Amino acid sequence: MPTEPPPPRDGGHPPTPIRLCAVDDLPRDGAAGFVVPGEGGFPVRLLVVRRAGEVFAYRNACPHRRLPLDYDDGRFLNADGTRIVCANHGALFRIEDGLCVAGPCIGAALTAIGVEIAAAGVSVWV
Ligand code: FES
Repeated sequence: MPTEPPPPRDGGHPPTPIRLCAVDDLPRDGAAGFVVPGEGGFPVRLLVVRRAGEVFAYRNACPHRRLPLDYDDGRFLNADGTRIVCANHGALFRIEDGLCVAGPCIGAALTAIGVEIAAAGVSVWV
């Protein structure tokens, strides 16, 4: 689970975490999608998985064709909830590190996003 803030941009201060939600707003052993402002205010799609007390966040962009993994229907996990799945061509990714273990982009990985869990809830650095 990425927990460290990214290095400062352009030698300045580290980016400010963006609060997403309370931990309990995430489905237990499930996933949810978010859109947050990125650099320059451009929207960044994220997927966040809550599993066994941990939270993992990735950019919602498949390394195969850079399409959103959920095809806009909000489903990110396979039927038994053990892998992140891309709805476009069926690639499967490990939840813990985003590595593709089956499908057309095997060996590539989702882009991990730094996550902070605090009293205020779940925050990310994008
Ligand atoms: S775009 Fe995800 S498997 Fe092709």
